[in-house]
Amino acid sequence: MLCHGEHGDGKGMAKQVSPLPSDFTDLEWKYGGRLEEIFRIISSGVPGTMMPPWGLLSETERWALVYYVKAFSGKGIR
Ligand code: HEM
Repeated sequence: MLCHGEHGDGKGMAKQVSPLPSDFTDLEWKYGGRLEEIFRIISSGVPGTMMPPWGLLSETERWALVYYVKAFSGKGIR
């Protein structure tokens, strides 16, 4: 992922943006960690941040992204 990083740890390309892209590998979900909440963020983006809305993607594609980013959760905790 360009901004959130290959490992979903937020260490992607976007090092100069504020706030930084989220780290999906910790257990913190700033906008809510329930699947529906992640779907809403992916669909509508986060105004005032570099997080764009992905509403151009189909609902199925966005749900696939929900499970993709959720799969990183907790992976960063050793
Ligand atoms: C399809 C690609 C993407 C997906 C699935 C995705 C997913 C997410 C999710 C689920 C969140 C909320 C995390 C939370 O609640 O803690 C988020 C936040 C964010 N994303 Fe993305 N994102 C994508 C692409 C991008 C891109 C291209 C950028 C470019 C910089 C970006 C920058 C951010 C930022 C800045 C935030 C807000 C962080 C904050 O408020 O602390 N994302 N993203």
